[in-house]
Amino acid sequence: MIIVLGGQKGGTGKSTTAINLAVEYLRLGKSVALVDADPQGTATTWVDTAAEAGHPTPVFIRETKAEVLMDRIPELADEHDIVLVDLPSELGQVQRAALVVADVVILPCGASAAEMWALTESTDLVKEARNPNPNLMAFVVQTRVQRATKAGKSLRDDLAAWGITVLFQQLINRVAYRDAMAAGLGVTTMPGADEAAKEFSSLVVELHSRLEGQEHEDAD
Ligand SMILES: Nc1ncnc2c1ncn2[C@@H]1O[C@H](COP(=O)(O)OP(=O)(O)O)[C@@H](O)[C@H]1O
Ligand SMILES: [Mg+2]
Repeated sequence: MIIVLGGQKGGTGKSTTAINLAVEYLRLGKSVALVDADPQGTATTWVDTAAEAGHPTPVFIRETKAEVLMDRIPELADEHDIVLVDLPSELGQVQRAALVVADVVILPCGASAAEMWALTESTDLVKEARNPNPNLMAFVVQTRVQRATKAGKSLRDDLAAWGITVLFQQLINRVAYRDAMAAGLGVTTMPGADEAAKEFSSLVVELHSRLEGQEHEDAD
């Protein structure tokens, strides 16, 4: 399964989510490949840190060219249970290419109304990608949340109308996410990060229950 982390804003938690998903899937015994498609190289730095510290690492590829990614991502999916792609924040050719080959796109987003409204451009990109890739499943995860908030119902409904689901489980603003990244770990493997670990595991469980639900809908 190919899961890409996208969206047009920087600093929303794409790399953090990609890295923590890689760690959690490894912890669950899956074979995992992580692709760093962002010239900023956050995932590259993390994987170097993890390897140096002797922590488990996914198979890792750094590739920032759209035309190479189009071929390389599906090849990786033949060899691994999970392929995660950490995308740059610009809605350019790289995001387009990745969304066309993906099974799932996750759009991390802050929890404020303004940040949620700013998802519009990303939803356009999802819509565009579904032309060649009609089965693309799309989710919003609210990250760096200051206090548990609910995405306004009308916004959830608007996004649902676009075929984009806002995940119920939010990721709270916690120092554990920064500490885990700096240590070459994820929150589900870092000692003492129990609350963060719990919320992140729940996010993965929710994602998979929704993926199964949507596949059943497609089969009906
Ligand atoms: N849930 C969170 N709690 C605390 N800090 C977070 C959280 N998610 C992300 N961050 C921090 O926010 C910054 C931006 O996150 P990052 O994942 O690099 O965003 P992006 O890849 O979308 O640009 C990083 O310093 C990261 O450690
Ligand atoms: Mg990033």
